[in-house]
Parts: sequence; structure tokens; C-alpha cells
Amino acid sequence: MCGIVGYMGSKAAYPILIKGLHRLEYRGYDSAGIALLSDRLELNVYKTKGKVADLERFAESKDVSGCIGIAHTRWATHGEPNEANAHPHYSQSKGLALIHNGIIENYTVLRTELESKGYTFRSRTDTEVIVYLVEYIMQTNRVDLCTAVQLALHQVIGAYAIALIDRNNPDEIIAARKSSPLVVGIGEDEFFLASDATPIVEYTDRVVYLNDEEIAVIRRGEPLKVVNLNNVEITPEIKKLAMNLSQLEKGGYPHFMLKEIFEQPRTLQDCIRGRINIEGTQVVLSGVIDNRDKFLNAHRIIIVACGTSWHAALIGEHLIEDLCRIPVEVEYASEFRYRNPVIHPGDIVIAISQSGETADTLAAIELAKSKGAFIYGICNVVGSSIARATDSGSYIHVGPEIGVASTKAFTGQVTVLSMLALTIAQQKGTLSQTRFEEMVKELQGIPDKLSKVLKNSEVVKELSKIFTYARNFIYLGRGYNYPAALEGALKLKEISYIHAEGYPAAEMKHGPIALIDVEMPVVAIATTDSIYEKTISNIQEIKARQGKVIAIVSEGDEMVRGIADYCIEVPRTLEPFAPLVASVPLQLLAYYIAVNKGRNVDQPRNLAKSVTVE
Ligand code: M6R
Repeated sequence: MCGIVGYMGSKAAYPILIKGLHRLEYRGYDSAGIALLSDRLELNVYKTKGKVADLERFAESKDVSGCIGIAHTRWATHGEPNEANAHPHYSQSKGLALIHNGIIENYTVLRTELESKGYTFRSRTDTEVIVYLVEYIMQTNRVDLCTAVQLALHQVIGAYAIALIDRNNPDEIIAARKSSPLVVGIGEDEFFLASDATPIVEYTDRVVYLNDEEIAVIRRGEPLKVVNLNNVEITPEIKKLAMNLSQLEKGGYPHFMLKEIFEQPRTLQDCIRGRINIEGTQVVLSGVIDNRDKFLNAHRIIIVACGTSWHAALIGEHLIEDLCRIPVEVEYASEFRYRNPVIHPGDIVIAISQSGETADTLAAIELAKSKGAFIYGICNVVGSSIARATDSGSYIHVGPEIGVASTKAFTGQVTVLSMLALTIAQQKGTLSQTRFEEMVKELQGIPDKLSKVLKNSEVVKELSKIFTYARNFIYLGRGYNYPAALEGALKLKEISYIHAEGYPAAEMKHGPIALIDVEMPVVAIATTDSIYEKTISNIQEIKARQGKVIAIVSEGDEMVRGIADYCIEVPRTLEPFAPLVASVPLQLLAYYIAVNKGRNVDQPRNLAKSVTVE
């Protein structure tokens, strides 16, 4: 939510900042702005409603000189998306400029106090109070910017990643974080600042991830200094970035989402690589092995996540209960954090998050931690807040996911959950070695099966044309495929804006079947599994009411083909891995329908990739 970027060095800041904003645009895209300390030492702020491209057009005729600046792409929380509410925000005197990602919860109290001192605000945001407060402290206490930020942040309640520049000091950026991510890139006599490493990677691979309540003091000609709110100096830990630039480009695809869908055979290989021995007789997820006793003795596992990651968690529940015989509960992180859950010290909490920055998931982790649970993270973004807040974990290693609709992260999460369940099952002895090896072999073959599914993409593309103008969709699945149905429905609604619901197929007759008529497309996942016949009966019930059925079936299926209106074939696989192969055609269906409707697939309205506010 909101992207922050900053630069200080000897190069022109404007092109670096704009490029950085483009890379971060997935985090929010309703307005954008930039603050530059110009060659004439003027503090210029340019901002506009809309996307980064609108900002570029707006700044075309402006003075964009300067080697120091900060920039922002916004996902509105307080105040509608317009120019006044866009960041950066000036201080009252226009001597400071600030950008912010997060939410200041006590901003009304702070604003009222400042108003009583004669300050007048220019926006309706929660952000503006920070920069006003910092300036007020600088002026009344006669302190420097860093000290004023420390004092101001002591008064602020909420989440923030901020960066400030000062008209009177062209050689300094002050940045701070609490519950919102911030990374500092260290180059040769230059510094970069960003919400994640994507704007930094083409300039340097040396980064420092700030921790909560840490302040980066970035000064020209000096090494990076990190202090906390009480001015205690902290030695910054410099990490090496593993990301490369090509991962951040579209690589010839029209959209990141399509690229990411097509990357899945390779990303799943990357995810599996090094975790299964050559003979296929052992799965070694090191985070689990290192904490073997905790997993073996766990009475219960709770999985917390949001959105697509929550759907992956539901598949994880099936896998762990099925293979390891450990009871599993899956919770929306946003509900879990506020409902006083019963957590015992011996419980394991698994937190799943692509971005590793989701505010609700992070808060759920903190709650579970405070009650003594062992926390295991499954994240994609290396070095992210969740990855760092957990006791142990596994990365899914699928590379940067830029499209707002999650695709390759979902299949990566399900793959890691499969390996996690297999690792525990082997250690616990809840699976025979024969069955274990059969499953491992099948899992290793999934990337090839996904390649096969993708070769069929034209079939899905053609089908999408028939349903582009449908107003509603229902997605059905049972067992392992029920979460895949939920995920299929989420994909469609978030990028095409068509109303779609996922249900366990047998639940239809308890209410939703009333919706079925000739205009209702129903996507039924009916791959051959232990409840295949039951699913067929559910499809019959839909057909009896004239619903239009699009079925995802196993290769060579004849039964469903005889009933459904349209069929998409996927390779046969073991039941626990069915969601991996079934979800790919559903991603494609959503993608093509959205493209047919002319939607902005990679940046759908109202959404942001990384939900860092609750
Ligand atoms: O980064 P996370 O996995 O924690 O994100 C959770 C959800 O916000 C995310 O999956 C969201 O639902 C996606 N837009 C789904 O495509």
C-alpha cells in the first residue's frame, strides 16, 4: 500500500525516482508525487491524481533538476485520491517535504493540537500532521531534522514508513519505519530508499532493511547511520540482494499477470529445487527439520493468512490433516487478531504471505507470539517484515510477483505446503514410504504438467469470449478443489469486476442453487478424485436448472464431458495436487475475460498488491 522511493547522490534524481515509482506502482496507483531539491535549492513538489505516467506528463514543463528527492505512489486511506491529498506533503512553511506509507491512528488529536497553535492544513490526509509536527518541533525546540523526527514519532500512534527532505539541507534524507517496510540501498557515493528492493536492484545489490522504530540518517559523504527513536545507534546489517532485473520486466508479455501465469512451470521447479533428494526418497524443508520436535509434538497448527494466501492455507489444512494427522485451523488474519483466540504455547502458527508485509498477518503473528506459539512463515519476498518476524520458515522462491492478482505465488505456496506436509509426515511416520515416494515423484512432475496446461491456453482464450459479458459466475469444487474454486472466483472478480462466488459444490442445494438459471455460468472443478461421482451429481443439479457449466476435467474424462457445456482438460495427478493443475486454467480464464473487457489487469481498480494497512 503506497510506494516510497528516495535518492541522494550525484546523478539526476528525477529519472531514478520516476523509474522507482513505476516499479512500485503495484503498491498503489491512485495518485503520485515527487519532491526534489533543485539545483537552485528550491524544494519543488509536483503531484497529481492518477498514475505515475500522469505525474510524468504533469512534470514535463517543470524544473526537475536536483540530485536529491523523494517520491510516492498512493493507495488512498484518508482523503480521496486528488492532488491535495497526494504525497509528498509540505510542512507549513514549505521548508520540509514528507512521504508516508501507513496510517496515523491519532492524527485527529495531533491535527487539532496543531490547529490550536495556528497551523492550517492543506489536505485531508492523516500524513500531513507528521510533517507539520516535525517542523513545529524543529522550530520550537531548535533541533535538527533527525531529532525532530524522533520526538515527533514518540507522539505518533500507528504504522509508518516515512522519508523527509529539508530545503535547508540538500545533503540529507531522514527515513523511518514502524510496521511498514523500508529498504535503504547503498551504492557508490549514493543512497536509494524504497518500500521494497525492486527500485534499487538495478543500481546496487547492497541493502539494509530497516526494523521497526529505526531511523535511517542518510547523509552525503557519510556512511549510512541507523538510530532508534531514543537516538541509540544501531549497526546496520548490509544484505546482498538476490533479485535480478529481468525478473522485474514483462519479458515480451502484454501483462505481468500473463507472464507470471506462464512462469509457473519454472517457478515451481525453483520452489522444489534442493528440497527433494535425487532419489526422491526424502523431502528436506530445512525450517521444518530444524524444528523437528516442535512439529512432531504439535497438538494443533493454526494457519493465518489473507486473500489468495488464505486459499493456499485451506489447501494446507487438507494436506497436513490428511498426511500428518495434526489438527489444523485456518483463520483470516484480520479476524484472528481481534478475536482473543485460544493459543497454547505448544501450538504452531503458520503465517502465509506473498509480500510478507500484510498488516493483518503481521499483527496475527505478533498476537500468536505473545501467547507463546512457535511461528513459521511461508513468504515470497526475501527479507520482508513477516519473514523477519517469524521464528522459522520457508521461502516459496517464485521470484517477484508484480501483477496485483496473485498467481505464481499461490501455486508456490501450495507447493511449499505440500513439501511441508510431506516432510512432517515422513518424520512422523504417518505415511508409508511407498505412498510418500509416489507423492514426491508426482510433485516433482507437476511443473511439466503445468507446461501441458499452458499449451492449452488458446482453448481457454476462446472460451473466455463466450463469457466476457456474464454478470455473475459461480465456482464449485469439493475437497482439495474447494479452495481452488474460491481462488478461481477471487481471480475473476478482482481483475474483471464480474461478481463471482466460490462454493463447496454440495453446499449449492442449501441456498445458492436458487441463483441458477440459463444466464449463470458455473465453473465446476471435476477432476478425477475420491469424490468425483459426488461432484458429477452436483453438476447434474446445475444442468437440471439450465446453468451453463464449464468443467475442469482430467484428461480423457468422458463422464463430465457428456454433461457439461464446455470442458477444459488438465493432466491427471494425485488428489492432493489437483488444485495446482486446476488453478492454472482458472487464472487464464480470469485473465482473458478481463482483457476482453479492457480492464487494467495488472493494476485493477481499488486494489494494491501489498496491503500494509488494516
Ligand atoms: O502478500 P499477501 O499474500 O499477504 O497478500 C494477501 C492478499 O492481499 C492477496 O493475496 C490478495 O488477495 C491478492 N490480490 C489476490 O490476488
